[in-house]
Amino acid sequence: MSQTTAAAPRTVTSVTADQPRIQQHRRYLMCRPEHFTVSYTINPWMVPANPTDTAVALSQWQTLHDAYRALGHEVQLIDPIEGLPDMVYTANGGFVIDGVAYGPSFRYAERMPEAAAFMDWFSGNRFEVVAPREVNEGEGDFLLVGNTILAGTGFRSTGDSHREVGEIFGREVVSLRLVDPRFYHLDTAISVLDPVEGPGGVERANIAYLPHAFDEQSQAVLAERYPDAIRVDDADGAVFGLNSASDGLNVFISPRAKGFEAQLRERGYNPVLIDLSELLLGGGGIKCCTLELRR
Ligand code: ARG
Repeated sequence: MSQTTAAAPRTVTSVTADQPRIQQHRRYLMCRPEHFTVSYTINPWMVPANPTDTAVALSQWQTLHDAYRALGHEVQLIDPIEGLPDMVYTANGGFVIDGVAYGPSFRYAERMPEAAAFMDWFSGNRFEVVAPREVNEGEGDFLLVGNTILAGTGFRSTGDSHREVGEIFGREVVSLRLVDPRFYHLDTAISVLDPVEGPGGVERANIAYLPHAFDEQSQAVLAERYPDAIRVDDADGAVFGLNSASDGLNVFISPRAKGFEAQLRERGYNPVLIDLSELLLGGGGIKCCTLELRR
């Protein structure tokens, strides 16, 4: 009889960590940046006068896509739509837990037509779709850490969406206020390193974050809840070092975030360096181009 190997999560033990890092299987939604350009400004990174190169964006994006696949992750694709250059940032397309997709409601008119495209994709792929009442930009502002939803506000998603996301998923929501316009989505200032329960059910959820992106009260909340968090310095934050994806062992980060890379190695993670400089012209990085699909 043949053996089934597909579903078995790979466990890789790291020699430098005091606790072994555990790689978990991920399923991601991505969108090829076929129509990528910067034709409007809705965050400080976007300067339409600066030229963009769609071919470079495509090849950098492909490198990220291929790196996920090479490490055993599943990547699903949503078709890009002409005239929606920000659709490559699929993290904003929704927030998905247990097969339920909370749809996005974008802050700015330029991105509003993306919402229907993402919700159609979810329903066509057997997710239960919950249409939003409140303005929210999906996993750009909602991050699942253990059983808690960290929720960002200040620039895009509203505080009312924090209440809504809590009602839909029946989980604790911790609201955090972003104060620096360069870090306008939560996923530009927090990276979820270990989102899950560890061996024996012990919660080992941990994060990395950029303290200065938050107001004082939110900084205090983060310090109290995540005493073991990696605090990333401003230089690494400024190159979107925190806009990264992690499978619990491999952390996909910008090659420019040198300090963060060293911090990750010290803790036994394996940084995987992916350069998305072209997509940074639109104010997005690795995490922005990645939406986690949790069944
Ligand atoms: N140009 C896009 C916007 O401003 C970038 C989105 C980045 N996405 C993210 N998850 N941080 O909406």
